Amino acid sequence: MKIRSGGHDYDGLSYVATVPFFVLDMFNLRSIDIDMETETVWVQSGAILGELYYRISELSKTHGFPAGVCPTVGVGGHFTGGGYGNMMRKYGLTVDNIVDAYFIDVNGRIHDRKSMGEDLFWAIRGGGAASFGVVLAYKIKLVHVPEIVTVFRVEKTLEDNATDIVDQWQHVASKLPKELFVRLVIDVVNSSTRTGGSTVRVSFISLFLGDSKTLVSIMNENLPLLGLSQSDCIETSWIRSVLFWTNITIDSPTDVLLNRTPSLSYLKRKSDYVKQPIPKTALEGIWEKMIELQPAQMIFNPYGGRMAEIASTATPFPHRAGNLWKIQYLANWNQGGAETAQRYIELTRKLHRYMTPFVSKNPREAFLNYRDIDLGVNHNDRGSYLEGRVYGIKYFKGNFNRLVHIKTKVDPTNFFRNEQSIPTLPH
Ligand SMILES: Cc1cc2nc3c(=O)[nH]c(=O)nc-3n(C[C@H](O)[C@H](O)[C@H](O)COP(=O)(O)OP(=O)(O)OC[C@H]3O[C@@H](n4cnc5c(N)ncnc54)[C@H](O)[C@@H]3O)c2cc1C
Ligand SMILES: *[C@@H]1O[C@H](CO)[C@@H](O)[C@H](O)[C@H]1NC(C)=O
Ligand SMILES: *[C@@H]1O[C@H](CO)[C@@H](O)[C@H](O)[C@H]1NC(C)=O
Repeated sequence: MKIRSGGHDYDGLSYVATVPFFVLDMFNLRSIDIDMETETVWVQSGAILGELYYRISELSKTHGFPAGVCPTVGVGGHFTGGGYGNMMRKYGLTVDNIVDAYFIDVNGRIHDRKSMGEDLFWAIRGGGAASFGVVLAYKIKLVHVPEIVTVFRVEKTLEDNATDIVDQWQHVASKLPKELFVRLVIDVVNSSTRTGGSTVRVSFISLFLGDSKTLVSIMNENLPLLGLSQSDCIETSWIRSVLFWTNITIDSPTDVLLNRTPSLSYLKRKSDYVKQPIPKTALEGIWEKMIELQPAQMIFNPYGGRMAEIASTATPFPHRAGNLWKIQYLANWNQGGAETAQRYIELTRKLHRYMTPFVSKNPREAFLNYRDIDLGVNHNDRGSYLEGRVYGIKYFKGNFNRLVHIKTKVDPTNFFRNEQSIPTLPH
């Protein structure tokens, strides 16, 4: 049985298998009940993030929710995998803002937080609920956003001294005020001035929970090499900042967020965590590698702020204090077929391999919501505990063992299983 909410699993675990299977599709369970008095929402698993954001914005200009930046992502998979977005440095992950849940166990019983108990409630906030049962709905706590927020997108190539700016960014991005999130999207574009005809482009994309004047002064104090000016900044509402971040024209009608159809066709993603700044000369080597491996790209998402204040055992998601930023490796393509897919997937693997000296080790950490089958696969037979440890330690570090104990207790026959589920204890 495959459980699907928004169907955005990066390696398709909610709708692909090598054996006959059926899909438990949650898409009709998508009610969103907002209670402004308690600033809480019951949101069902089949809703998408865009629907949630839109419904919040119908009732308030000063409330939001810290979840992913892509509106077509489903609540069910996203929340249970740890969910992060551009308010993470201020408010943490989605799982840090969940207060209750409705959940069906292997015996078909429906639980809330009280009847499932704190262990299971802990596990389904970041440990991947698909190993334990089915989440029907989550109850979340809304967060406060200012009526005016500021966004910018500034692009710098190697000819604009992008290396110096990235170097400055990596020393400050995780220490900036919590209200400020500056993401880097790094790709390769044509160049008329560089030998070889290619250059690296770094796009600095930001959300600031405040006005543009304050933002420019924070940026010029901390990241002066970017040279941010007022004219780079757009002041807007929080809901329109969601449009900006997903590359929809900022003055479009906000109900485009209700559209469930994603715009991507084929893709591969991988992840890494960076704990120490990368030497500048090494950055130059990385750019050369990216030029060689284009169209593989990278996105750097800064940590710190609220993320560093929450204990790494508070939820199954372990990547808290000590992380400067997370890398997402990505390749997108439009042409079907296994050969093409293999070629693009291999590019992301090569870039990931090249980055080995600069990222976390023992374990090389990874983010569950950036599902990556390359990290290991479980055949769910006799060796399942050892197979599960391989990817489990990367996704959950020391929290893996607690997940295994909870799994063994609530689903001892391993009914809820998939290619990367939590195994039961060997007996
Ligand atoms: C375009 C795009 C943008 C993204 N942006 C972000 C981002 O900004 N931040 C971020 O954190 N992640 C992001 N992701 C990753 C995303 O969070 C994960 O892929 C997430 O798991 C998707 O949730 P879903 O419900 O859409 O996926 P699904 O494919 O439906 O489910 C994902 C996993 O959760 C399980 N599952 C789903 N629903 C339930 C349920 N009700 N009960 C139990 N198990 C369930 C599935 O079986 C599967 O294992 C993005 C992904 C894409 C494709
Ligand atoms: C890049 O840096 C060099 C040396 O510091 C400087 O002379 C040059 O003006 C900078 N170029 C840009 C586009 O900022
Ligand atoms: C988003 O828009 C910018 C600016 O218009 C463009 O350079 C970039 O390629 C777009 N990104 C995606 C993922 O479509």
